[in-house]
Amino acid sequence: MINILIVGSGGREHAMAWKIKQSPLVNQLFIAPGNAGTSLLGTNLPIGIADFEGIKKAALDHQIDLVLVGPEVPLCEGLHDYFLEDSTLKQVRVVGPQKLGAQLEGSKDFAKEFMMRHQIPTAKYCSVTSATLSEGLAFLKTMKSPYVLKADGLAAGKGVLIIDELSEAEQSLKEMLDGQFGAASSKVVVEEFLSGIECSVFAITDGKDYQILPVAKDYKRIGEGDSGLNTGGMGAISPVPFADEVFMKKVEERIIRPTVEGLQKDQIPYNGFLFFGLISCQGEPMVIEYNVRMGDPETEAVMLRIKSDFVDLLIGAADGTMAHKTIEIDQRTAVAVMLVSGGYPGPYQKGKVIRGLESVENSFAFHAGTSLKDGEVCTDGGRVLAISSYGQSIDEALAVSYKNAQRIDFEGKYYRKDLGFDLQK
Ligand code: AMP
Ligand code: GLY
Repeated sequence: MINILIVGSGGREHAMAWKIKQSPLVNQLFIAPGNAGTSLLGTNLPIGIADFEGIKKAALDHQIDLVLVGPEVPLCEGLHDYFLEDSTLKQVRVVGPQKLGAQLEGSKDFAKEFMMRHQIPTAKYCSVTSATLSEGLAFLKTMKSPYVLKADGLAAGKGVLIIDELSEAEQSLKEMLDGQFGAASSKVVVEEFLSGIECSVFAITDGKDYQILPVAKDYKRIGEGDSGLNTGGMGAISPVPFADEVFMKKVEERIIRPTVEGLQKDQIPYNGFLFFGLISCQGEPMVIEYNVRMGDPETEAVMLRIKSDFVDLLIGAADGTMAHKTIEIDQRTAVAVMLVSGGYPGPYQKGKVIRGLESVENSFAFHAGTSLKDGEVCTDGGRVLAISSYGQSIDEALAVSYKNAQRIDFEGKYYRKDLGFDLQK
């Protein structure tokens, strides 16, 4: 029996906590900092995700055997390395890559060079700094509209611009290099635009062997029909009809296996999740981006479909025993519908009382941005709750989530009612 500490506070972490709690391998579960939902499954600890000293103290105080890192920021800042370097923490397993491997998400240029080196299919690109601006402008001229500009570093999901006019793209490239996204855009990746339909593929790996988790599609835009501003994610569906056996075979042969082999060839240790943001260009998978963690809200659907003991998989990734692990997947469909605060992703209010949680039936209400105030569950973020359900089809699962979305109430509640509109059902 082991004690586990989850780092993070979103719907992803609540869904992972829910799954972990079902494992007979777990003794105590802690979440730092967690939310109102995770407090029902384990002990929330008031520690920030980048407070390494606080996390260390919690690991020692609570005899933690395994730390599961939810978001990318602590990984890119070296939380795993920090644990490896501290002799008092040597016995604590960390699931999530070290700083070097986390560069797959932390630097778009690093990810692109990695894909080039290992012949992994991705869009043509050119990395540009102030010193090489003229080359960047020349490369832009060789591309067709629309133009894709990406800040090299982490920019909280906002660092990608897709621009129709060449003159505007040229201007934006200069502005990005001038610090539009701070240090994150001191280098910019200019990329060929790929058209197709996107999906999220996940693997858990010890850096040598891996298991593929259920594939999902997320809905990033705030408005129906994929209109309006980008959000952290308005919902997710798993499995994805177009990501069929033929497509997934290509993904494994051309992308997943070469990525894990590439990590080994480059001597990059990697214990954790690989998240492949893919686009299907007429059935041919291409990598749009790597992430080094699970997706949110994809996790709120994916966890429902993992039948195996998730903790056993985490131990496999941490201990280098993935070769001995298997994964069993639920054949049903799972969906997550995100309820968000009015105004999100623009300015919105927090602290609205959430009512009706007790009336939810046949769904899981994973908390994304909630907190407890005077014993009441209140909104505490833009994304508030992920309502996750099973079904024999996408429509059936969505109908269950939508019904429960109506039962829950808070001032300003909004959700998309057209999830799956682009999938043949
Ligand atoms: P990223 O942060 O790299 O995932 O980019 C955010 C979003 O921009 C992606 O989910 C895609 O919808 C879009 N995007 C990024 N790169 C490209 C590309 N090369 N072609 C088309 N769309 C892209
Ligand atoms: N749902 C996309 C992400 O987690 O980045």
